[in-house]
Amino acid sequence: MPPGGAQARAEQKATLQEMAHKLFTSDEMGTFLDHLAPLTENHAYDSDEASLVRVTAREYEKRRRIPPDLVAERARVSTLAHSAWENARQQADFELFQPHLERLVDLSVRIAQALGYSEHIYDALLDLFEPQMKTSTVTSIFEKMKNALVPFVQRISSSTQEIDDNVLRGNFAEEKQWELGQAVLARIGFDPTRGRQDLSVHPFTTAFSPDDVRLTTRINPRFLASGLFGTIHEGGHALYEQGIPTSLVRTPLCDGASMSVHESQSRMWENIVGRSRPFWQFWLPELRQSFPDHFQGVDQETLYRAVNRVAPGFIRVEADEVTYNLHIFVRFELETALLEGTLQAQDLPDAWNAKMESYLGLTPPNDALGVLQDVHWSGALFGYFPTYALGNLLAVQFYNQAVQEHPEIPDRIAQGDFTQLLMWLRERIHKHGARYTPQEIVLKATGTGIDAAPFVDYIQIKYAEIYGL
Ligand code: CO
Repeated sequence: MPPGGAQARAEQKATLQEMAHKLFTSDEMGTFLDHLAPLTENHAYDSDEASLVRVTAREYEKRRRIPPDLVAERARVSTLAHSAWENARQQADFELFQPHLERLVDLSVRIAQALGYSEHIYDALLDLFEPQMKTSTVTSIFEKMKNALVPFVQRISSSTQEIDDNVLRGNFAEEKQWELGQAVLARIGFDPTRGRQDLSVHPFTTAFSPDDVRLTTRINPRFLASGLFGTIHEGGHALYEQGIPTSLVRTPLCDGASMSVHESQSRMWENIVGRSRPFWQFWLPELRQSFPDHFQGVDQETLYRAVNRVAPGFIRVEADEVTYNLHIFVRFELETALLEGTLQAQDLPDAWNAKMESYLGLTPPNDALGVLQDVHWSGALFGYFPTYALGNLLAVQFYNQAVQEHPEIPDRIAQGDFTQLLMWLRERIHKHGARYTPQEIVLKATGTGIDAAPFVDYIQIKYAEIYGL
């Protein structure tokens, strides 16, 4: 879309979203749901029938509390804010974005008040992305992670072990990178007859049905890891979408369980699988074929260490798996403060820089590398960021459970066979669609609730070995 189209697009989106909202939250829909509820009593809780009515009714109750004019206003304000944010980021000038952010915060406070909450205003927004999650729970999970990870990152930074990722840097032909990404996708189980991959500025995955799943990637000719791990990440999202049964198509059940469960899939494939020794045991020979000049003399251990290099940086999406969550803590703490009213938009850049300094030991040189780097706030997506970190925790919990039940999974991965892991994910997570709440799906798959400890253990064991701590 050309920049000049933003205003017209804002109005179109506002109209469509308001119409969709009115239809879904109409009295007529309420009558349908009231009529259907008793009919599902003869069906099991997890049947299609009972799940469809239950999940739709829950969504109906939630959406009905938001007045249609607020929905339209959110679409309008956020479309304009998005253009302003792009411009502000390009010029590294927060002041260009500040008035929009003030409107977005004000609007989000009104939406949260309309939705209602019992403990914290942020709960109302968090619930839109992560049903039934509470701010107090996120705070206590993040405290545990912070207490372990912040000092651990400092130990890594002062470690005498030097790890470089030079083998991943140089000149990597874009067609070869593209072919490698396609090969990895096919092997982990992505079905190209029911989806496709394209290039875009920011990688993402979207699904029109389980039979039409689109993912994008971006390729950096100077750095192999960027496109490869981006592709595997989006591939994890895409496998989830392709694994939802087609019987659920065109219903509210044809979706993931939540943002964090979705992110658990992408992060598991990207990090736990994609940055493991067994993975590279299989893929190093392939790499040597694709890029003989770069990898002919490179051994597996050098490659394993290169893809697991830890380096605190300014940009969340480029962060390694040890420092990644620290970026999320910064955003979570700032956005809860904005909504509480204890932080004003004009003070945000300084607050951002102070938190970056205390968690990552870095102060961004400008706002483009700091507070303006992410798109989310321009879209009024307050409550979204914590789901990234929660997804990292769930990724470890799910993978540990899969390996506990099938101890041969790592050996199979080393042979390039990913089917056993994928089948476990299909059976325990994908096939349920949005039938269960995230809490239900985690409990059913692992026998416990979401927990920071397995992630902290995974990180500390893996990286203590790599960095000789
Ligand atoms: Co993702």
